[in-house]
Amino acid sequence: MFHFLLFLLSTVGTSAERCHPDDKAAILKFKNSFSNGPQLLPMWTSDRDCCDIFDCDQTTNRITDFSITYSDLAGTIPDAVGDLTYLQTLRLHKMPFLVGEIPRSVTRLKHVTFFDISWTNISGHVPPFLAELKSVMFIYLSYNNLSGPIPPSLATLPNMIGLDLSRNQLTGSIPESFGHLVSPALQGLSLSHNKLSGEIPTTVGNMKIYQIDVSRNSLSGDASMLFGASKGSSVIDISRNNFEFDFSQVSFMEDTLVTLDISHNNIYGKIPSQILKAFMLQFLNVSYNRLCGEIPSPWQLKYRSEGFDNSSFIHNRCLCGSPLAQCK
Ligand SMILES: *[C@@H]1O[C@H](CO)[C@@H](O)[C@H](O)[C@H]1NC(C)=O
Ligand SMILES: *[C@@H]1O[C@H](CO)[C@@H](O)[C@H](O)[C@H]1NC(C)=O
Ligand SMILES: *[C@@H]1O[C@H](CO)[C@@H](O)[C@H](O)[C@H]1NC(C)=O
Ligand SMILES: *[C@@H]1O[C@H](CO)[C@@H](O)[C@H](O)[C@H]1NC(C)=O
Repeated sequence: MFHFLLFLLSTVGTSAERCHPDDKAAILKFKNSFSNGPQLLPMWTSDRDCCDIFDCDQTTNRITDFSITYSDLAGTIPDAVGDLTYLQTLRLHKMPFLVGEIPRSVTRLKHVTFFDISWTNISGHVPPFLAELKSVMFIYLSYNNLSGPIPPSLATLPNMIGLDLSRNQLTGSIPESFGHLVSPALQGLSLSHNKLSGEIPTTVGNMKIYQIDVSRNSLSGDASMLFGASKGSSVIDISRNNFEFDFSQVSFMEDTLVTLDISHNNIYGKIPSQILKAFMLQFLNVSYNRLCGEIPSPWQLKYRSEGFDNSSFIHNRCLCGSPLAQCK
């Protein structure tokens, strides 16, 4: 009886393959486009149900999540990824031998919400056609070899929550369009570790954004528009640029600020005493600037009993007071 049941289950299993033929064709094309694909992906075969390998939607039986991580697949991203038209997640992560450009075929992924190609060696520009991915909420393209400017069109993505273009070779300035984002919900923007230059457009001050990281670029001029008591910022990292503005005038949202790093710029003026009320603050670094005056105290830090040591304040023009030397 037991054996009979097993037999029955296994026949039901094989006769009811869920995989859609278009998806099966796409993943086989994907595999075979890499010189080492057949060797590294021996399980992807035509007699295997692709819904056993990938997440498929319960009703449509279409692949919704195509994630490949920590893989030595060598070659370019094949056009066939664009044939997986029901994808919600595309993730190609930690693939050091993935090279070439992002193919235009990805614009066929009309349902994609999570678009992640990170820690690879893809190159070329951040393609402006990514703005055609109207469902996308997260674009992660960090740790690649992308160059050229940030496409202004990315600001038109209506549902974008997070954009991470950090650790590439991007040049040019932050587009003016980022001051007129269509998405009401952008929470995180990371452009760090690139070669961005020029001044931040003043309109970018319109952005209400939870986490912003533009560190390690060559940006210059004023960055005070990124601050403000009404912005709800949690992380502001503008370190290692050439910013030059008066820090005395900036304000913070006291209830939300957790990380503030302005180190290694040419920022002048005083540390505003309002910072003392940022009781969530856990990381502060204003070192290597041209600040002056007394370091405000006492701190009212709720989640960091010990305050900040002198490395947070060193190498300024004339900052003084604890934890640096007493003011004269
Ligand atoms: C890109 O390729 C270089 C040289 O092969 C390698 O050292 C590096 O780790 C690769 N980058 C990533 C992010 O995998
Ligand atoms: C990164 O891209 C540049 C061209 O933009 C190329 O010369 C360089 O070899 C690439 N680096 C790697 C590790 O692929
Ligand atoms: C602040 O930044 C400086 C310069 O990069 C560094 O030496 C110091 O350790 C940092 N301090 C903290 C608390 O991160
Ligand atoms: C910072 O503190 C360390 C150890 O407490 C001390 O050795 C150093 O001299 C101080 N540096 C400055 C600039 O106050």
